[in-house]
Amino acid sequence: MATDTDLALSHGFALLDAASTQASRTDTIFLAMLLLCGTVALVLLVLIVAFAVRYRRGNQVDRTPPRGLRGIEVAWTVTPLLIFFAVFGWAARDFITMADPPRDALPVTVVAKQWMWKLQHRNGRREINELHVPQGEPVVLTMTSQDVIHSLFVPAFRLKQDVVPGRYTRLWFTATQLGEFPLFCSEYCGSEHSQMTGRVVVMSAAEYGRWLASGPAQPSTAQYGFALFRQLGCSGCHDPRSTIHAPSLDGLYGRTVHLQDGRSIVADADYIRDSILVPAKDVVAGFAPVMPSFAGQVSEEDLEALIAYIQSTSPRDTP
Ligand code: CUA
Repeated sequence: MATDTDLALSHGFALLDAASTQASRTDTIFLAMLLLCGTVALVLLVLIVAFAVRYRRGNQVDRTPPRGLRGIEVAWTVTPLLIFFAVFGWAARDFITMADPPRDALPVTVVAKQWMWKLQHRNGRREINELHVPQGEPVVLTMTSQDVIHSLFVPAFRLKQDVVPGRYTRLWFTATQLGEFPLFCSEYCGSEHSQMTGRVVVMSAAEYGRWLASGPAQPSTAQYGFALFRQLGCSGCHDPRSTIHAPSLDGLYGRTVHLQDGRSIVADADYIRDSILVPAKDVVAGFAPVMPSFAGQVSEEDLEALIAYIQSTSPRDTP
């Protein structure tokens, strides 16, 4: 059986594969920069050699400083400036696109740990060091680490994102080619860092649907989150019918929350995570800071499930 290392070696030219929509955009800008910088370097090289030959010591040439060249000086200053502004605008547009996953992207949660990748699909199907995705559909990974900083790197997709303990980072892509592509950890994370590899398997949408449904039946991430919500006693206070005065969490995800200290905050995954682990940090206006911390009682998977449950109560995000 081929190991991950064999797979990585057989993809020795993986950088030539461009297997996501982002990959072709990144390649275009890379090639444009390469041509631009190469042209500038070449022109400078030719001029340096030509001037060195022409003005060498002992050569009888006119050496009086030229005058009236302001037009040329302005041109060689302003033209590169405009080109660099254009390159900045181009790169910034791609960067913003990369940071903003489409609303309908398929969610996959990722927990990195020394030394493996644990992934979970929305219907609860789990996998380790493998990520199955459909071709042509946007997929968004919500990632965190259980221990140290890791970094998820898929060269064929031209994507790399740090995976950091204590917060969520996101990465999204649309795979364009069927096949298997190596995935790596690209942040040194301990003695087996180099073996923290895996593969992304891109399947047709129909095949992916079958694959997703074929796993052992498990509760979806949000269902598991709801079970935890009751098991940990969250519902005891956060249920609207509860006698304890705690904010209702229905439809919380994505809403703006006003806090006791006058700040406002958008309820995203990081906010919900902090509220579970460090409840005294962002106290909602009009409520007493009585919630205990659940740090140490919930794993990273549990937190992602609780967040998925709260997210599922928002009408626009209902799976
Ligand atoms: Cu995980 Cu390097």
